[in-house]
Amino acid sequence: MAPASHQHKPALLDRGGDAETRAERASSHQKKAMAEKQRQGLNVEEGSSGAAGKLVCVTGASGYIASWIVKLLLDRGYTVHGTVRDTADPNKTLHLRALDGANDRLHLFNANLLEEGSFDAAIDGCECVFHAASPVFFAAKDPKAELLDSAVSGTLNVLRSCKKASVRRVVITSSMASVIVNGKPRTPDVIVDETWFSLPELCKKNQQWYTLSKTLAEEAAWKFSKDNEQEIIVMNPTMVIGPLLQPTLNASVEAVLNLINGSSPTCPNYAHGWVNVRDVALAHILAYEVPSANGRYCIVERVAHYSELVKIICKMYPNIPLPDKCADDEPLFPTYQVSKDKIRSLGMELIPLETSIKETIESFKEKGFVAF
Ligand SMILES: NC(=O)c1ccc[n+]([C@@H]2O[C@H](COP(=O)([O-])OP(=O)(O)OC[C@H]3O[C@@H](n4cnc5c(N)ncnc54)[C@H](OP(=O)(O)O)[C@@H]3O)[C@@H](O)[C@H]2O)c1
Repeated sequence: MAPASHQHKPALLDRGGDAETRAERASSHQKKAMAEKQRQGLNVEEGSSGAAGKLVCVTGASGYIASWIVKLLLDRGYTVHGTVRDTADPNKTLHLRALDGANDRLHLFNANLLEEGSFDAAIDGCECVFHAASPVFFAAKDPKAELLDSAVSGTLNVLRSCKKASVRRVVITSSMASVIVNGKPRTPDVIVDETWFSLPELCKKNQQWYTLSKTLAEEAAWKFSKDNEQEIIVMNPTMVIGPLLQPTLNASVEAVLNLINGSSPTCPNYAHGWVNVRDVALAHILAYEVPSANGRYCIVERVAHYSELVKIICKMYPNIPLPDKCADDEPLFPTYQVSKDKIRSLGMELIPLETSIKETIESFKEKGFVAF
């Protein structure tokens, strides 16, 4: 039997269908080419600012996402002030100093989120601050000391320094964690978007301390912005994977490593969003460069269950031993959708999950985290 698409269609409709497909393909090629130009640092957005000579600051510069923000900023010609907790620690600085353009245009400063005024020197004179620094781990014994203080007071410390220095725009790295924990059901037909806010009380009840830290930090940032007329743009990325610039592992890429390093015969019975670190970094920069950028941006390429990741990895790397069942016998945790309308308004098309997984695993190989 002929495939369904070949069955007795009127010729006119066939041609129309083909033409539409060609137009869709051309438009998709155009979007991909535009996204690639943006990744390479070429200004393709109407109103994009010329970067040469502009001074910006990235907090927590040595972290996974921030290192990529620093790299893309340098590639685009910006001069960057990066803050780290210890500028003498080679694990935190060598990979940054090795970036193209870093010799001339990257300056590192010591700063700690818990110290009032700590960011003043790094932020002074900057047109934009990318605030990425915040502790990222999920098993806190003392949530207040380990997560909440740095996230919330730290964000306010940074914003106060921004206000003092009359920074034009602050781009804050929040998280989908501060979007989705609100008790609404998440099922395949549900579309999450930027109007969703996590509820602190629910995070506390669930003892989701990292989620609480991001929710309270974002809440505090919006309040500061309103009270002080400080422009902020908030980025809400989901679980971030993709190539590592820094030499050490970070929490989110470990989720992929744990699937491929034989550490467990099972995969989590859980589904959440995934996105490539290169896209997250680019979205931050466009949030600064595109004049009309505003509010929050969910950054999620796709929501996928861990068992789907296992299938994708199995296709690409058939010889790696992978988990062959879920951690429990419950029904598979449902997926949901996340709207891409807002992030597309910045001119972005997100890198497919398959590519992000491949880039993550290749990066693990290159850095010696796996031996295959
Ligand atoms: N990775 C994800 O999946 C994901 C998803 C959504 C949102 N985010 C957010 O993205 C941001 C970066 O996360 P990441 O994944 O890149 O994590 P990461 O690699 O662990 O980076 C976290 C950064 O925060 C800094 N930091 C922590 N406590 C600090 C303190 N008291 N003072 C100064 N700096 C401090 C760290 O500085 P040191 O280098 O000095 O340790 C590090 O540079 C965070 O705000 C995180 O919540 C991450």
